Amino acid sequence: MLLFREKFPADWLPKVLQNLPAVLVDHAHLERKAATSALNLEKYRDLYPKVHELNAIAIEELQHFELVLELLKRRNIPFGQPYPSPWISGLMRSVRNGQRLQVIDHLICCSLVEGRSCEKFQVLATALEPVDHELAVFYGSLVESEGNHYATYLLMAREIDDAETTRRLDYYLDLDAQLVRVPNPIPMLH
Ligand SMILES: [Fe+2]
Ligand SMILES: [Fe+2]
Repeated sequence: MLLFREKFPADWLPKVLQNLPAVLVDHAHLERKAATSALNLEKYRDLYPKVHELNAIAIEELQHFELVLELLKRRNIPFGQPYPSPWISGLMRSVRNGQRLQVIDHLICCSLVEGRSCEKFQVLATALEPVDHELAVFYGSLVESEGNHYATYLLMAREIDDAETTRRLDYYLDLDAQLVRVPNPIPMLH
């Protein structure tokens, strides 16, 4: 189902496994930003009919945020500073201006973020199983939801303009393939 043209770097998983507390804090912020993104999409005229669907996504992301905060609390990890993701800002920097162009680009970016989360949560669920069962189950439980968000955002873009979405998706998948290879020393999900 996922369309990515490049695997994320092989050093991502060991870096994450060696820095789980920092990654969990980053994950909390990622869910917070996912909730905000769903709400931000409601500013586009083309998405006014989708306001309830977007609210539902925002609520789900806030629930994920709460779940990560609970995990942090149980593990005595303080909720801390967010770090910007060079991969996410790289995608967002190429969102074009203009109602129709902007909403399609923005939806595709949100879709790719959800898609990469879905992909990485699945990898984490498998890799964590022998070392941290609770966390493995937790990541496994998020896979379907993030996968649905990925598909929903892409479908919303296609409903607005299918041909333009296909063109821009091609552009963004190449951009993702470039950006995902850029080394990032900070232990974070994206
Ligand atoms: Fe989420
Ligand atoms: Fe999501």
